[in-house]
Amino acid sequence: MKRSFVVVLICLLVIVAVGCGKKVDAEGIDYLVLVNKENKLPDTWEREITIVKYVDSQGWDVETEKEAFEAYQKLHDALEKEDVHVDLDSAYRSVAEQERIVKDFTEKYGEDYVKQYVAVPGFSEHHTGLALDLYLNIDGADVYENEDMVQYPEVWAKIHEKLAEYGFILRYLEGREAITGYSYEPWHIRYVGDPAIAKDIMEKGITLEEYLGKLPTTDVAP
Ligand code: DAL
Ligand code: ZN
Repeated sequence: MKRSFVVVLICLLVIVAVGCGKKVDAEGIDYLVLVNKENKLPDTWEREITIVKYVDSQGWDVETEKEAFEAYQKLHDALEKEDVHVDLDSAYRSVAEQERIVKDFTEKYGEDYVKQYVAVPGFSEHHTGLALDLYLNIDGADVYENEDMVQYPEVWAKIHEKLAEYGFILRYLEGREAITGYSYEPWHIRYVGDPAIAKDIMEKGITLEEYLGKLPTTDVAP
């Protein structure tokens, strides 16, 4: 009896220790969750997150995971002070929403473009609510088409410099397409929770896959 009590106690201590080692928030969200071409959104994810709604400057509804949105607001305000103006284009997307985007982008830009820039429904990081697509406001005019946004590398550089301080990383890096599976997207930022982790990733100039030691096992290049 006494011995089995000790065994149970040791098991509980091991469970607590393992649980404590994981980067989770109070509600149990793993802010380092990896969703990419080889890793689907975890089945329980959408039940576990808290989504908040935001109306952007154009009147569009944007949904985001709560803590990621709070961090975005701080990033936004810090950028405003430097005369850099951003807004949220797209953040949390359901699988149905991603299906609509695949359809629209295929009609507008063709299949090759979609392969480079749009995830297969179920495999988009946007399903996590932690991935945010920004758009720019330059001299009072909104700039949100991808081909227009890439014309402002100096503005993106200022934005990327500030990301880590608020727990964000740049997710789809130039030159790392064979790892991320997507072409360079200066607008797609990802909340990873801990600013120290974000800083480590950004300073090393690596992808989330590299940071987690989970490189693709198949050819995922766009
Ligand atoms: N643009 C990213 C890859 C997505 O569609 O999730
Ligand atoms: Zn995106």
